[in-house]
Amino acid sequence: MKKRDDEQTVLVLDFGAQYAQLIARRVRECKVYSEIVPYDISPDEIKSRKPKGLILSGGPSSVYGETPLYCRKEIFELGIPILGICYGIQLMAYCLGGEVAHTGKSEYGKTELTVYPENLLFNDLPLTQTVWMSHRDSVKTPPEGFKPTAHTENSSVAAMEDVERKLFGVQFHPEVIHTPYGMDTLKNFLYLACDCLPTWTTVSIIDEAVERVKKTAGDKKVICGLSGGVDSAVAALIVHRAVGDRLTCVFVDHGLLRKGEAEQVEDTFRTHFHINLIHVKAQERFLKKLKGVTDPEKKRKIIGEEFIRVFEEEADKIKNAEFLVQGTLYPDVIESGTREAARIKSHHNVGGLPVEIGLKIVEPLRNLFKDEVRALGEELGLTEDIVWRQPFPGPGLAVRIIDEVTSERLEILREADAIVVDEIKRAGLYKEIWQSFAILPCIRSVGVMGDERTYAYPIVLRAVTSEDAMTADWARLPEEVLERISNRIINEVPGVNRVVYDISSKPPSTIEWE
Ligand code: XMP
Repeated sequence: MKKRDDEQTVLVLDFGAQYAQLIARRVRECKVYSEIVPYDISPDEIKSRKPKGLILSGGPSSVYGETPLYCRKEIFELGIPILGICYGIQLMAYCLGGEVAHTGKSEYGKTELTVYPENLLFNDLPLTQTVWMSHRDSVKTPPEGFKPTAHTENSSVAAMEDVERKLFGVQFHPEVIHTPYGMDTLKNFLYLACDCLPTWTTVSIIDEAVERVKKTAGDKKVICGLSGGVDSAVAALIVHRAVGDRLTCVFVDHGLLRKGEAEQVEDTFRTHFHINLIHVKAQERFLKKLKGVTDPEKKRKIIGEEFIRVFEEEADKIKNAEFLVQGTLYPDVIESGTREAARIKSHHNVGGLPVEIGLKIVEPLRNLFKDEVRALGEELGLTEDIVWRQPFPGPGLAVRIIDEVTSERLEILREADAIVVDEIKRAGLYKEIWQSFAILPCIRSVGVMGDERTYAYPIVLRAVTSEDAMTADWARLPEEVLERISNRIINEVPGVNRVVYDISSKPPSTIEWE
């Protein structure tokens, strides 16, 4: 069993959360484990973690700004290789006695970089290349011991290094895709400067996660809530590898799921992976609670509370269970505590069951990004359908029926939604679109079918592109796809005589309608 060698870790000092996250993800794509730490982490803390290298991320700060973010100067004396990116190179220059200038010549976007021969960071890379820049200040004079290793038209020191002290800096962003040799530059830092080995692979991630769960859960019983989505599925499979039959999965079918979802959970977990599965068929119970309710927040609250109640009842039946699996991902870990977002909607997650149910928590995915979870899912043998399933809200179809939820309306929406998914998949667009689904606003309009007048529901088609659901744009779907979706829904779903396309972005709209 291979355990992750802590000494193969690269720490990313966070001077601006979005930048740091992307860098950490890229380092992991180079198969080196990386973690994000606060920018002012103490040298002692760094030493105790024995990292192979440090990366100073970019960020919105300026060393001449009103509230610059400084790292501790002593970190440059630890003998650990350091790469400063964007603000990171400026900070490195500033801390070590170089000169950072407010040149007035900001660079933004694709820029041509000229590399000087004979340096480590650009080893084996072209001497002219395109890089992505986004900065106002820039290094004018490198600190003593450094030599410039590249320049652009407006930055005389677009990169610098002191090979002896293993300190490196780049003004551009190697982590973005618009820097074509960015990953190679990072690899040179990781493999040549830090002597890292590319050992962080899906197999090693699984082994390590399994090992950690074994350690945490020991010989105790564990409960895992399944939602049908990729996070809870991967979490369950990892825990199953660690504790085997001592795991029981609970799948609460609230009747608000997409077509075929419940059957797929049965098939995957009970039939294929032979995992103990309690499939709670609670459709009636939820529908009863939702009777007459039209207010979106009330619906969400009712479903969230009922879900917890059902889950608790089932958990109670599993004698002596001590642990509950949560599908927390790394971005939640990084952001928790700093997230001050106003409450727009009350979210309900299977992963977010309250700890009050008296169980200790085990979080096998808490160090992982979503793309890593998907890669693990594939490695663990989950079907593409589950691995690549688009996000789905906890309250399910209830927040896509814009009025009271009834079984008749659920049936209509479920059928229409299945057609949307089917056609988007057939067009090869399912993975690149963040979410594509149907909404049922409970109004009626007049139509004509054959020679008959109809008076039926419209279906709203919603398809958005997004990186993280915080912002989203409506997807420019090809006309033929729109046409097929519309034709099929109107012809195949009784009770629908019209299809419209939602062309609003987030903000000011949201992705879901409720
Ligand atoms: P909105 O509608 O706020 O949605 O733009 C942003 C993303 O969150 C999903 N969503 C939820 N996910 N529990 C969840 O796990 C919820 O209660 C919930 N509500 C919305 C939504 O589908 C989109 O991806």
